[in-house]
Amino acid sequence: MAGTTGKRPTTAHMIADPERMRSEILVARAAGRRIGFVPTMGALHSGHVSLVDRAAAECDDVAVSIFVNPTQFAPHEDYGRYPRMLEADATALEDRRVRWIFAPSAEGIYPPDFATRIMVDGPARRFEGEIRPGHFSGVATVVCRLFIAVPADVAYFGAKDWQQTLVVKRMVRDLGLPIEITVCPTIREPDGLAMSSRNAYLSPTDRGRATALAESLALAERMWAAGDEPAAIERDMTDHLRSRGVDVDYAAVVDGESLEPLANTATAAVALVAGRLGGTRLIDNRQLPTRRGTG
Ligand code: PAJ
Repeated sequence: MAGTTGKRPTTAHMIADPERMRSEILVARAAGRRIGFVPTMGALHSGHVSLVDRAAAECDDVAVSIFVNPTQFAPHEDYGRYPRMLEADATALEDRRVRWIFAPSAEGIYPPDFATRIMVDGPARRFEGEIRPGHFSGVATVVCRLFIAVPADVAYFGAKDWQQTLVVKRMVRDLGLPIEITVCPTIREPDGLAMSSRNAYLSPTDRGRATALAESLALAERMWAAGDEPAAIERDMTDHLRSRGVDVDYAAVVDGESLEPLANTATAAVALVAGRLGGTRLIDNRQLPTRRGTG
């Protein structure tokens, strides 16, 4: 079993070629094995590892992809400086029952004449979709491409990127892709900051201020429980973020599935927050418990 003491670390099989990756997965599935898949852009932290551990607990074999996807970054964004550390990532996955690390090249995923884009509407429209035009189409396209290279039974995504989970689930449903989607809880630093590969960009001062995101979500939860209206909660979240020096992109309380304004307070809600500290953009969210009988 994973982590057994006295054993040498198990090293995953590193594969770059999508065709080869696909045939290995299909062989394993034909042998009756349940395959779990964790798509990532690398620079792995405990949030990613929690997805891998969940996959290992629920599946016979686990594949992790590491691919910094150029099409989900706008030209002014951080594609060029996004941390790339394949060897350290492979070390982080040692001894965790990962059978394959799929690390394709950009040309392997996007041949020179690649001309296809998947556009998801609905949950992709607002928030990140508005602020980062083209981002979710890049995510949907690469996730679909990855699902073809890694035809697993189930793929694991983090609630940290709540809107992304909704976009992926909608694409899977709309296109009838034969894969289950499991959403796993957000892993946080001891002070509440959601783990993210981008936290490494923060200066010490901004790292101190970054707890404002989780604090604004805790505030939202308290106000929600006290019966406050979304507009009042959003105002107070924004005030708190600004008071800590965060340049706020949005602070919202919306329907947890459609991300549209809440029709009534008896539906499942989510608080979403995004803002910038220095040059670093951070996002976070929190599910709000259903308020019965008040809507
Ligand atoms: P990346 O940011 O590397 O995240 C990979 C997966 O890890 C995503 O499902 C993300 O939600 C999850 N994750 C990140 N931080 C987490 C945390 N603190 N707790 C729990 N899970 C966390 O998301 C992407 O890559 C890309 O968009 C991708 C889906 C791979 C497509 O390119």
